[in-house]
Amino acid sequence: MTVLKIDSSARVEGANSRIITDYLVQQLGQPVIERDLVKNPLPPISPQDLVGVHGSHQDDRASLQQHLAMSNTLIAELQQADTLVLGVAMYNFGVPAYLKQWVDYVCRAGVSFRYTQNGPEGLTGVKRAFIVTASGGTPIGGDWDFASRYMEHICCFLGITEVVHIDASGSKGSPEVVIASARQQIDALLAQPEVEEA
Ligand SMILES: Cc1cc2nc3c(=O)[nH]c(=O)nc-3n(C[C@H](O)[C@H](O)[C@H](O)COP(=O)(O)O)c2cc1C
Repeated sequence: MTVLKIDSSARVEGANSRIITDYLVQQLGQPVIERDLVKNPLPPISPQDLVGVHGSHQDDRASLQQHLAMSNTLIAELQQADTLVLGVAMYNFGVPAYLKQWVDYVCRAGVSFRYTQNGPEGLTGVKRAFIVTASGGTPIGGDWDFASRYMEHICCFLGITEVVHIDASGSKGSPEVVIASARQQIDALLAQPEVEEA
C-alpha cells in the first residue's frame, strides 16, 4: 500500500492544506511518495508540446521528448500508488496553476486513460483519493467551488473509484479551527472500515 501525496499551496510555511495532508499521510501510516508542485515546480509545457503530450505523439522533437519523459515519471508515481492525497489551495475559485499543470502532464490518452464505446476509462489503478481543499470564504462543495469538484472529476477520469473530500475552508478565521475540523473529518473517515480497507 503506497500513498502519493501532492501539495500545491503557494504557501510553503503555514499552509492549511499542507498541514492537513501531512496529518492525513501520518494517520494512513503507509509508504509515501511526495510530489510538491511548489517546492519543485514542473517544467512549463508549450502549447505545441501540450497537444503532443496529451496524444502521446510520436515526434522526436527534443522538447516533446523531455515533456513525455516528465509525464511518464508522474504517471509512474500514480501507478505505484493505491491512495492519492491531494492538497488543493483554492485560488480564484479553481485549482492552483501548478496543479493544473500536473493534471495536463498525467492525463494521457492511451496511457492513463483510454476512450471506449462506453466513454473514457481510467487506467492508473489508484483505488482511492482524499482531496483536501483549503479556501477562505468560499464553501467547499458549493456552487462557486470549481476546485474540489474539478479534482474529483479528474480523479474519476483517471479511474479512481473512491473519492473523499476533506473540507479545509475558512482560512479567514483561525487556522487552528480549520485544522482541528479537518483532523476530525480525517479521524472519522479512517474509523470507517470501508475507507480503511480500500
Ligand atoms: C491567489 C489567491 C486566490 C484566492 N482565491 C480564493 C477564492 O477564490 N476563494 C476563497 O475562498 N479563497 C481564496 N483564496 C484564499 C485561499 O484559498 C486560502 O488562504 C487557503 O487557505 C489557501 O490554502 P493554504 O492554506 O493551503 O495555503 C485565495 C488566495 C490566493 C493567494
